[in-house]
Amino acid sequence: PAVETLLSLEELQQAAESFMSPRVKDYYGAAANDGYTMQDNRNSFRKCRLLPRVMRDVSSISPQTTLFGIRSALPIYVSPASNALLGHPEGELNITRGAARTGIIQGVSAASSFSLGDILDERDEMDKELEKDGTKMGMVYQVYVQTDREKTEAQVREAVSRGVQALILTVDTNVLGYRQSTEKIKGTTGDASPGVRMGPITDYPAYHDARQSWGDLPWLKKIANGVPIYLKGVCHIDDVRLAKEHQLAGCILSNHGGRQLDQARTGFDSLRSIHAEDPQLVNDVEIYVDGGVRRGTDVLQAVALGAKGVGLGRPFLWSQAAYGEKGVIRAIRILESEIVMGMRLLGVTKLDQVTPDMVECLQEVWR
Ligand code: FNR
Repeated sequence: PAVETLLSLEELQQAAESFMSPRVKDYYGAAANDGYTMQDNRNSFRKCRLLPRVMRDVSSISPQTTLFGIRSALPIYVSPASNALLGHPEGELNITRGAARTGIIQGVSAASSFSLGDILDERDEMDKELEKDGTKMGMVYQVYVQTDREKTEAQVREAVSRGVQALILTVDTNVLGYRQSTEKIKGTTGDASPGVRMGPITDYPAYHDARQSWGDLPWLKKIANGVPIYLKGVCHIDDVRLAKEHQLAGCILSNHGGRQLDQARTGFDSLRSIHAEDPQLVNDVEIYVDGGVRRGTDVLQAVALGAKGVGLGRPFLWSQAAYGEKGVIRAIRILESEIVMGMRLLGVTKLDQVTPDMVECLQEVWR
């Protein structure tokens, strides 16, 4: 179907999956173990309801905000996800172009199929094309602390020296989660999508140093050279507190799209719980959420409980796989119109007017 006819992220997913090879479809869609957490991610947004305010002038709406210290047109960003090339020959570059054109921040995975240098070159090209007098497109680089610290250090230094505005340290992947569906399919279908050569799907073991700990932060901070660091894959309130004590800029409450620890709590439920227990903490450090965000109203629920913004992973992999850069732009435009309409119907004109009293949760959060 033509990309303009697709009306929701779910329709984009269906269109993409209809022509992706079984192996790529599995790689993007896979979850750990029984997929409980991946299902929960989507469902956790259904447990809360919004409380709109009425009789307010909502003729002019601005969904702009600042994420990771960078201006953003919307309270959403591209969550770093690996191997975009499996779905489309231009892979991550599609995302760079689509994000640049719509004023969205791109999170670049440490396991991207294109090199960081290539992606940064594309960013420079886009900045030139869009004539953005000096302000660079928002780009954050995701780091894994690898067993090879020198390699990690070289990557961070390259990202920092070329003007990546923030670093995301992913901390929920000290071992790769067990994806049973991928085990099943291994070796059966080697093909990628039409016209795409199948490269090796990155296998992570060498990537992740199981010895990684809070004690590594001084080293990372030093090489980050003042670029803010955010922890991705946080669930427990005490880890948010530790991040604050270690003077990190913030945390992303996430379970890696349900691909790591199955039966882990969802990012949105963590936000609910942490907000309920210590609302001030959510102001003291920047809090982000990802996992299962598919509608503008999901975004607004998280924003209401104090999230600065939310990340989406699979929707951008799917949309670039099916339609390249145009798919990425379509996904963002759909979300934009849903966010703007949601704000109008909620009776707010700016994101800071979306407040905790506007969400009610139907079920107690279990701790
Ligand atoms: C991911 N994610 C991820 N996260 C990360 O920090 N580094 C990575 O390399 C990857 N790679 C990756 C690959 C694929 C195929 C997926 C689906 C996800 C996790 C990602 O950033 C994000 O946390 C989730 O995708 C969010 O959930 P949704 O939006 O996919 O439901």
